Amino acid sequence: MLRFGCLLVLLYAFVLSACFSDMSTAYDANGEALRIINVYTDRHYPIDDSLYQAFTNQFGIKVNVVKGKSEDLLARIDKEGSATKADILFTSDVGRLHQAKKAGFFQPLPSFEALNILPSHLYDGEKYWVGVSKRSRVIVYHKERVNPNELSTYEDLVDEKWRGRIAVRSKGNVYNQSLLASIIAANGEEKALEWVKGMVENMYQSPKGNDRDQVNAVFTGKADLAIVNTYYLGQMLVSQDPIEREAAQSVGLFFPNQSDRGAHINVSGLGVLKASQRLEETQKFITYLLSSSVQQKFASTNFEYPVLPGVSKHEIVEAWGGFKSDAIPLALIGENNTKAIQLFDKGGWK
Ligand code: FE2
Repeated sequence: MLRFGCLLVLLYAFVLSACFSDMSTAYDANGEALRIINVYTDRHYPIDDSLYQAFTNQFGIKVNVVKGKSEDLLARIDKEGSATKADILFTSDVGRLHQAKKAGFFQPLPSFEALNILPSHLYDGEKYWVGVSKRSRVIVYHKERVNPNELSTYEDLVDEKWRGRIAVRSKGNVYNQSLLASIIAANGEEKALEWVKGMVENMYQSPKGNDRDQVNAVFTGKADLAIVNTYYLGQMLVSQDPIEREAAQSVGLFFPNQSDRGAHINVSGLGVLKASQRLEETQKFITYLLSSSVQQKFASTNFEYPVLPGVSKHEIVEAWGGFKSDAIPLALIGENNTKAIQLFDKGGWK
């Protein structure tokens, strides 16, 4: 009997997975259609799967996920055109959200309550996309080799005193593109190009690897400073790997530009695809991600910052302290993305 039950469960799982693999309507055990949404995402954090499951449990809407690199997902949406099954693009950089909007992939979001309480620089002025979690791109420094009093701004990183001492990712990394886009917005193109050239002078090597690799370069003495997103440091501090924990403990976190515009921030955010007909489901999904309890989970398990005011953070994030963040509209960062890529090329950032 038990064996027959197992077979039934397996058969049911097979039927469901067959339904999900073509991302069309899914069915429950009684053959009733389940409501679904299809999410294309470049986010790579374990927390997301459990949030999607909790959403399904709460609202009876199954979340089908297609994971990939943001550039591949954008190309796929473009190729699929109006036939795309995607309802939502959920991506971890505002530059990509802007790209999707400019390409005409999104439809405007309907007005809903959560949007009204969000700071206005965290969503698109025409409401084509909305940020749902926040991170800052900061400087980390070796606690023994660098006195934080020596640090001040992103601009100061081109000073001669940092020659050969900085670890940072390549120009292809969209987080760096957004950082440079914010520097263009603050200082203009000419100064931003000088900054790129100065940074190239001060790198310890031609850029390679991800943010964690940059922290490791500081830990192992190859560099003294690195530019990284805050949540990577949080993830490393609680890593299962003791070496990774040690690496994270060897560095301090510094929020730059506190006496002027503030530290650069970026968002993970999403937009609803133009072709989507699932407006009720997608609105429920966005409202869910912007609810206090989900905001709290982004903060408590993934070391991100909530976008909603008044939501508590992880104790590690709390320990980094409050900081002033650059409040330029993130949409402007998206707009400056192309210029940023050009300046990286011109200034020789690999
Ligand atoms: Fe990331």
